[in-house]
Amino acid sequence: MYRQEHIGMEPRDIPLNRLYHDLAHLWPVMSPPEEYAEEAAYWRAALREALGAGRHPILELGVGGGHNLSHLTADFQATAVDVSENMLAHSRRLNPGVEHLVGDMRHVRLDRAFAAVLIHDAINHMLSEADLRAAFATAAAHLEPGGVFITSPEFLRETFHGPRAEVCTRTKGGTHLTYIEYTHDPNPADTTLEAVFAHFITEGGRLRVEHDRMITGIFPRSLWLRLMKETGFTPEERVYRLASTGAEYLLLLGRLRGPSR
Ligand SMILES: C[S@@+](CC[C@H](N)C(=O)[O-])C[C@H]1O[C@@H](n2cnc3c(N)ncnc32)[C@H](O)[C@@H]1O
Repeated sequence: MYRQEHIGMEPRDIPLNRLYHDLAHLWPVMSPPEEYAEEAAYWRAALREALGAGRHPILELGVGGGHNLSHLTADFQATAVDVSENMLAHSRRLNPGVEHLVGDMRHVRLDRAFAAVLIHDAINHMLSEADLRAAFATAAAHLEPGGVFITSPEFLRETFHGPRAEVCTRTKGGTHLTYIEYTHDPNPADTTLEAVFAHFITEGGRLRVEHDRMITGIFPRSLWLRLMKETGFTPEERVYRLASTGAEYLLLLGRLRGPSR
């Protein structure tokens, strides 16, 4: 017999951001650190080009599991911030030489200056112009004069033509995960997208299905550049394509205006 809750559910009935909380154990299965090697090589090259030789201090805001960062720690002395304790726990294990702190990239102030600040895909969680500006201001507040800020928008308003669906299968340790991620734009007039996830998780030979949902930000390219300028940066754009996936990425580099390094 069908009960009402089995007939179908509205996305709004699915809790938000479970991947960073009760489903955080899935992160290394879903998106393993080794898959970041090629992308991280571009971030490393950009940092090296901007900063020159040396084990410069860098700060990552929204470090998540530290998968991207794990490819940079041999070259740079990193500090990492995230709002989720469960995600920081992954990064602490993967990046033992890194100082990890709980904080919100919009408000955190460590009263320290770094040669570079990175915000990788966590920047997707900035949902409004005010959020994005606040994150950029946090980056500026943590840079030495002439320091560099690097970030990368996953979606731009001009180029997102949803809905978009992705199916992935991964196995790690005793966990087998297949997930479907469905990203759509319920209201093209606002600055957000919605991603709905169905996770098929097999652990100990038993399959269970979990749903998750995320709201992420989407802004025009011109807004990213304008906000970088307004928060004190001279922005530069670089486009790169990953040979492993064919995906094209936009890297935004902002040099903090002031005395050059
Ligand atoms: C996709 S994960 C990052 C994964 C990471 N790039 C990696 O390599 O493992 C996004 C992260 O952003 C964090 N996050 C979301 N909003 C945030 C905020 N306002 N301040 C700091 N971290 C935030 C989440 O807790 C999550 O860990």
